[in-house]
Amino acid sequence: MPAKLIKEGVYSVGAIDWNERHFHGHTYVTKRGVTYNSYLILDEKVALIDTVRHGFQKELIENIKSIIDPTKIDVIVINHIEPDHSGAFPDLLKICPNAKVYGTQKAKQGLLKYYGVCGNWVPVKSGQNINIGKRTLDFIDVPMMHWPDSMFTYSAYDKILFSNDGFGQHYATNKVFDYEVNFDVLMDEAQKYYANILWPFNMIISPKLAAISKLNLNIEIIAPSHGLVWRKHIPEIMQKYLYWSSHSCKNRIAIVYETMWNSTEKMARKIVEGITSQGVESILFDVTKNDRTDIASYMLEAKGWVFGSSTHDGEMLPVIAGFLHFLKGSKAKGRKSFAFGSYGWSGEATKDIENTISNVTFFEPSFKVVFNPTCEELDKCFEIGKAFALKIKSED
Ligand code: FEO
Repeated sequence: MPAKLIKEGVYSVGAIDWNERHFHGHTYVTKRGVTYNSYLILDEKVALIDTVRHGFQKELIENIKSIIDPTKIDVIVINHIEPDHSGAFPDLLKICPNAKVYGTQKAKQGLLKYYGVCGNWVPVKSGQNINIGKRTLDFIDVPMMHWPDSMFTYSAYDKILFSNDGFGQHYATNKVFDYEVNFDVLMDEAQKYYANILWPFNMIISPKLAAISKLNLNIEIIAPSHGLVWRKHIPEIMQKYLYWSSHSCKNRIAIVYETMWNSTEKMARKIVEGITSQGVESILFDVTKNDRTDIASYMLEAKGWVFGSSTHDGEMLPVIAGFLHFLKGSKAKGRKSFAFGSYGWSGEATKDIENTISNVTFFEPSFKVVFNPTCEELDKCFEIGKAFALKIKSED
């Protein structure tokens, strides 16, 4: 991606990873690819906010070269050390070894552990700032948004908040601003990102957003380190972050299941019929045929979580087991659930489901059937779905 001007003197100089389909190992399916955003600020001093993933350093350096000689960089701000943002740091440091490097104390420790270098390091924390000419860059600690080292950088002169992982989306595009892409797609990617990256840190994010709000920053642009830059839709994304981080959810039910010989699937279909009969929104997810990334995104706003599995060798099936282990890391609150499934002779799957994820959701009694569900048992599935939907609705 060539460098793009985002405000006078401020350029986006990062890289586009068009074909990245598995982020964070295999935990996050990135169907639309990923960007690693980095921002160059030209003032009396030249500042670079964040770098890019290793392998994309050439793109970063070429983009900087299209604006200015990279040896002239005076200041490198490391908002966050995860390798998707710091991977090019060692190469950059070789080009401008005398640049001062700003970040939290934890960021320094992390860089040394990853790369054995941290450059001419200056530790900073909330309340501190540096002057680079017309501009002052203010630092705001945001630990666990996304790692303990994370911080935001704010330029009051530009009215830009450089938010690193905060407000990101995994969306590879050569557009820069939020208004240049389809709004629904953008918000869908922002939700997926929140559900798969930030959800586990709600208890920290929610008060942090409140504290930042009290700073009364004048923000016209939010420039994250992934995806589009927010300019037109800042109120919408702010409202969503407040909603998600407060564990708010809708009268919506996700039914997530894995089936061996379709008996558990037959039960799932009847349960969803019962839910639908009460006008409650729901989606049926066969966990073997859907990306866990999409399922988690839907579940972020779902009050009801229903899980089904056949019993296999005295356990729930392996794909749903993997999904539940992933989901329990969400540390969600305020959800209701029940488990269901078919079995041959022992029927441990429902108990296995409950034991795995009862830390983040409250379970109603489970329902299981032997082998193939009878007509009466399918009727019971319908009734269970109906009763569950009524319970979800009654708790508004
Ligand atoms: Fe985009 Fe936590 O790194």
